[in-house]
Order: sequence, then C-alpha cells, then structure tokens
Amino acid sequence: MNPMDAPKPPKIPKTPLEKDSAKRLIVVLEQASLETVKLGKGKEGHYALLNCDDHHHILKKNNRDISESRPDISHQCLLTLLDSPLNKAGLLQVYIHTTKNVLIEVNPHVRIPRTFKRFCGLMVQLLHKLSIRSVNGPEKLLKVIQNPITNHLPANCRKITMSSDVPTVRIGSYVATLPSNQPVVFFIGAMAHGSDNWVDDLVDDKISISEYPLSASVDGVGGVRQWKCF
Ligand SMILES: C[S@@+](CC[C@H](N)C(=O)[O-])C[C@H]1O[C@@H](n2cnc3c(N)ncnc32)[C@H](O)[C@@H]1O
Repeated sequence: MNPMDAPKPPKIPKTPLEKDSAKRLIVVLEQASLETVKLGKGKEGHYALLNCDDHHHILKKNNRDISESRPDISHQCLLTLLDSPLNKAGLLQVYIHTTKNVLIEVNPHVRIPRTFKRFCGLMVQLLHKLSIRSVNGPEKLLKVIQNPITNHLPANCRKITMSSDVPTVRIGSYVATLPSNQPVVFFIGAMAHGSDNWVDDLVDDKISISEYPLSASVDGVGGVRQWKCF
C-alpha cells in the first residue's frame, strides 16, 4: 500500500480546548477484573492475568466466585471501543477502573492484542510496570494514573451510568436532549453480574438502552458506538 493511502491514526487531544471538547465522548469501564496472580514459587514462578478459565483452582481455594474473574469482558469492550469509527475520528477517550482500584488511561492509538492470551500478557506487563510505551517512540499507550477518575474528567461534563436496572430510554432521543456544549462520560460495567452502582454518588443520570440485561460489549459499548450518528 502507498504510505499516502494508509489510514490516519486517531487524533490525540493535546490542548486543554481539545481535551474539554464537547464532541468527545469519554467511556469509563468500571469494575474491570484485571488482577495478576503468581503461578509457581520463587524464581521458577511467573505472573499471569487471573481468569476464571485458567485459574479455577486458585479462585476456589481462595473462596472467590469464578464470575469475579472475567478479564475477557474488558478485552472484548476495548476491541469494540478502539475499533469504532468514533475512536478512529479522535472523538473517544477510554479509561479503565479495576476492581482493585487501579485506574488506567487508554491512548486512542493503542493496538489492543486481538487474542486473549496476548491481551493477558500485555495487562500483566502494564500492572507491573505501570505503563506501556510505543515501540516507535516515547508515547505511552497505556498508563496507570492516580485516582479518582473525576480528576481526569472535564469540569463541566455530564456523567451517565449505563445500567439495566433502570427504565429504558431510546438512546438517540436521549442523546438529543443533552446540551451540545457539554462533554459526556459514560460509565459501563466491565463485569459479568452485580449492581451498576459504582459511581452513584457522582453521576447525573443512569440510563438503560435496552429492556434486556445484555453484555457490556454488545449493549453498553454498542450503544456508545451510535454516539453522534456513527
Ligand atoms: C453484563 S452487565 C453486568 C451488570 C448487570 N447489572 C447484571 O447484573 O447483569 C455489564 C454492563 O453492561 C451495561 N448494560 C447491561 N445491560 C444494559 C442495558 N439494558 N442498558 C444499558 N447498559 C446496560 C451496564 O453498564 C452493565 O454494568
């Protein structure tokens, strides 16, 4: 392919004006189960991303519910979000908040590994080194940042929890009611089960976009893909 024909990488907002842009959508994946576990002892040991398929025995031994350890949900959500036209147009910013209270900033340029095994390897590296740099330069593609999330959000943003626990709205009609000069933040649960009450103290709205409780990737993130007519 002629380099001139190569697709443009997503634009990264750099100036305060770009960062506060009302056109940009911010998504926070809440309750993401991204946690490392040491397998084996001493120097022979190595770290893996705790997950219900490979570490059933460890979860059982520690009296933990296997449905708690679903990093595959975060993987699926990240692929859907970062592949979206919204991200390609430089209009999306994603954060991940883990069940262990680790907050991660996702650079729109990052290429998330498409296989789960390689995704696990990348997450273990991130959780231990606290950042992942681009191989071609100093740009950080994934970065552990300080809590709370509110310190990273535009001051005047509208904060909305996506939930199946509340009355359903039509996403298109709902979005049309939002002031056009206000940046919007969607909080979506990257977990298998449980109440969507993680940020009840700080959100302005809680909406359901389907009468069915669906998966985070298909439902919550799928709804977000419709943002601004994409
Ligand atoms: C599989 S759900 C898990 C939580 C859900 N309360 C449950 O127990 O089934 C994952 C996430 O998808 C989003 N979600 C699921 N159904 C939804 C709906 N009908 N409307 C909006 N968001 C939804 C929510 O953000 C939720 O946290």
